[in-house]
Amino acid sequence: MAQFWSNSIVIWPLLLSCLCLNLARNMAEFPRIEHYRKRNVDRIAFLVVGDWGRGGNFNQSRVATQMGDIGKKLGIDFVVSTGDNFYDDGLKGVNDPLFQLSFTSIYTAKSLQKPWYTVLGNHDYHGNTEAQLSPVLRKHDNRWRCKRNFIVGAGIVDIVFIDTTPFVGKYFNNSKNQKFDWKDVLPRDKYLSALRKSLHLALSKSRAPWKIVVGHHTMRSIGHHGDTREIVDQLLPILEAHKVDMYINGHDHCLEHISNNKGMMHFLTSGGGSKAWKNDIHYGKNNDTVHFYYDGQGFMFVSLTHQRANVLFYDVSGKPLYHMRIRSTDKKFTTV
Ligand SMILES: *[C@@H]1O[C@H](CO)[C@@H](O)[C@H](O)[C@H]1NC(C)=O
Ligand SMILES: *[C@@H]1O[C@H](CO)[C@@H](O)[C@H](O)[C@H]1NC(C)=O
Ligand SMILES: *[C@@H]1O[C@H](CO)[C@@H](O)[C@H](O)[C@H]1NC(C)=O
Repeated sequence: MAQFWSNSIVIWPLLLSCLCLNLARNMAEFPRIEHYRKRNVDRIAFLVVGDWGRGGNFNQSRVATQMGDIGKKLGIDFVVSTGDNFYDDGLKGVNDPLFQLSFTSIYTAKSLQKPWYTVLGNHDYHGNTEAQLSPVLRKHDNRWRCKRNFIVGAGIVDIVFIDTTPFVGKYFNNSKNQKFDWKDVLPRDKYLSALRKSLHLALSKSRAPWKIVVGHHTMRSIGHHGDTREIVDQLLPILEAHKVDMYINGHDHCLEHISNNKGMMHFLTSGGGSKAWKNDIHYGKNNDTVHFYYDGQGFMFVSLTHQRANVLFYDVSGKPLYHMRIRSTDKKFTTV
């Protein structure tokens, strides 16, 4: 008996810790969507639009038309949405007519009939987040792919989509009396620390030559909201440690390109999907370099090959505003 007990005392904690480790490991993995399974895809291209759903108003429809034309001209594999998909308060449920009004009936061009990989923005959190995440939406429009956190693997690139809204402290203080749907996010600390671990894990495991992270909130921006302190503190070090090439976001309703002081990481804002403000510029307090800023409507195009990345911004009339290129060998970038 004494022998039995002494054995169990040793074995049980061991067993339990194995179980917990396994559990933690499973919880830590972001779901992965393989856009292309093959690593030998030569070129991946996509459009990025953010802060858009306004029933076509504030030039949303005009931006959509230009996205369709550029998508056709340059060829794209999918579309990325940086969040704030439905104004002002997200979707109320899976049958909310806004889904049709602001998405399906707006982005009608043939070239845009591709998967839309999308994150949630803070405005989406005002509504029923479960609705936007629900697979039922795919029955209404088969393009829709929205999750809180996930990875899209597309051969030469891994794109990690992350949920940035729960990082922002002021949304929890609720000074403006706004409602946020924090179901499945609370307890907040636990959610955020799991997210950081999973992001670290996803980037450690990535063998793709290009690594991109997409979130709604700004990391570096001279627009209306400027930098988002919480994600600069909690996520930027992870991105830099893993040599992420680009962080792509919306939130500020503008188009911009900023690089960090080593010129090795690029902060790209594409939040010009509908309403945009003119002359709302706030020069930052960090030493990163602003290469391009446009305080108007538009969208971004990205193409990636083994040799290089190309990033172009277009305005509401389809005029190219800015073009930069990164060489893959040494990650040097130039404006074109
Ligand atoms: C739509 O775009 C045109 C052309 O840039 C601009 O003149 C107009 O002010 C925009 N409308 C809105 C509501 O933003
Ligand atoms: C809420 O506001 C108080 C006072 O400004 C601040 O000390 C606290 O950190 C805020 N809470 C969060 C979650 O950021
Ligand atoms: C920016 O650079 C200056 C001069 O090198 C330095 O003194 C300052 O601390 C830097 N600021 C930040 C926020 O890194």
